[in-house]
Amino acid sequence: MCFKQKYSGFFEQLDDEYFNEERFVPAVGPEDAKVVLVGEAPGANEVEEGEPFVGRAGERMNEILHDIGVERSDLYITNLVKIRPPENRDPKSDEIKAWAPLLEKELEKVDPDVVLTLGNFASKQMLDTSKGITSIHGKMFQRNGRKIMPVFHPAATLYDRSKGPKLEEDLRKAFGKKNSGQQSLKDI
Ligand code: URA
Repeated sequence: MCFKQKYSGFFEQLDDEYFNEERFVPAVGPEDAKVVLVGEAPGANEVEEGEPFVGRAGERMNEILHDIGVERSDLYITNLVKIRPPENRDPKSDEIKAWAPLLEKELEKVDPDVVLTLGNFASKQMLDTSKGITSIHGKMFQRNGRKIMPVFHPAATLYDRSKGPKLEEDLRKAFGKKNSGQQSLKDI
C-alpha cells in the first residue's frame, strides 16, 4: 500500500493549499524501524527521486551513518513537511502545523525507540521549544512517552564544517556506537 493510501484519513482532511502532487515526497524505510529521522522538508533532488535525503545533505548524512556503522535502510526517514517549499524557502509555521498530525500518525505506526530530529525546524516542533539546536543537540528528551534527540541538520554541516564532528558524535551516542578514536579523513 502506498504512503498516501496508508494515511488516507490525513490526506482527505489536508487543505488543498498545503498539497502539491508534483512536490510531494513520502517517507521511506521499514515500519518496524528502531530509529526515526525527521528532517525539515524535501528539496529538488528529493522530489526528483521521490525519497527524503537523497541530495547533498542526504549524501553527507549517509557518509556519517556509514562511518559509524549504521545502515540507512534500517531507518525510517521522514520530513516535517512533505511538500518541497517553493524556492527552497523554510517551511512556514502554518505548513508545519498542517502536516504535524501526519508525523504523529507515522510515529504511532512505527513506534520507534528513539526519534532523531534533524535541525532547528524539526527539533523545535517536536520538542515544543524555542531553544536553538546549538544549545540542545545531542541531549535526550522525553516527550509524550517518546525519546527524542535533536541533532544538527546534515545540511548545516556543509556550511559549517565544525558541525560535522558534532553530528557524528551525537549520532554515535544515539545509536550506541563507540568512537574508535580514528579520525575520519574528511574531517582532517
Ligand atoms: N533536507 C531535509 O530536511 N529533508 C530532506 O528530505 C532533504 C533535505
